[in-house]
Amino acid sequence: MDFNEKTATKAVLDSFSSIKNDRLKFVMNSIVTHLHEVIKEVEPTDEEWLQAIMFLTNTGQKCDDRRQEFILLSDVLGISMLVDSINNRKSKNETETTVLGPFHTTSPKVNMGDNIANNVNGEKCIVSGKVVDINNNPIAKATIEVWQSGPDGLYDVQKEGHTVDLRGTMSSLENGSYFFRTVKPQYYPIPIDGPVGKVLNSLERHPFRPAHIHFMVKAEGYENLVTHVFIEGDKYLESDTVFAVKKSLIRKLEQGNDPENGEKCFYLNFDIVMEKII
Ligand code: BEZ
Ligand code: FE
Repeated sequence: MDFNEKTATKAVLDSFSSIKNDRLKFVMNSIVTHLHEVIKEVEPTDEEWLQAIMFLTNTGQKCDDRRQEFILLSDVLGISMLVDSINNRKSKNETETTVLGPFHTTSPKVNMGDNIANNVNGEKCIVSGKVVDINNNPIAKATIEVWQSGPDGLYDVQKEGHTVDLRGTMSSLENGSYFFRTVKPQYYPIPIDGPVGKVLNSLERHPFRPAHIHFMVKAEGYENLVTHVFIEGDKYLESDTVFAVKKSLIRKLEQGNDPENGEKCFYLNFDIVMEKII
């Protein structure tokens, strides 16, 4: 039978009839059905379709060991957060999840109270909290990994010949508590020197993410948690370019003094509620 606008979708779906892997078949049926719908609705010209192909080609060519432009594309289109939301539905008071982002890498072990800001000057900040279960029982020896950008909006790995900075891994104490010293996080733009930057520009969107500190928390018997703490009052909280803000993750920065030396510093408290593996 002729392949035309009316027969196209069925023709391709029929070609999948011998796929034995049910999940693969389901996914391919869905992708082809929806993509065909998009093409029928949009009716791209040949030039527009080639433009789309070139955009995807450029996105792939921008990827290397340190840069994943396809994840960035998924981030700015809200797909990363949609996948995250589907896979991390919470039923109680567990800490909500958010995107991992492209700047996670192995971080040095730090001790309680250590300063993770080595080569940056910024407003000092003490971050503290407790790791607990949904009934507020402390979780000891949870691994807490944190990473953040500096006051210049850059992560260490974005700097030429970088040295490790603004990241660390610590272990919660018997009462579940943790604390570390750092500098106040700042809002920053996601990388815009590639195809995704051009997309944001043509969609008339800004590239900024509100100030945050990333957390990855692991404890035996509990689901791994990937999240951020955001700073109350940040001007980009309502328009995070990767749609990753959740109200429950926003905390107020309090002003105080560092007990170690009396210097002025900010305090940020972020308790972490872990979800039991069932
Ligand atoms: C980040 O928070 O580091 C990030 C997340 C998604 C895209 C770009 C950056
Ligand atoms: Fe980040």
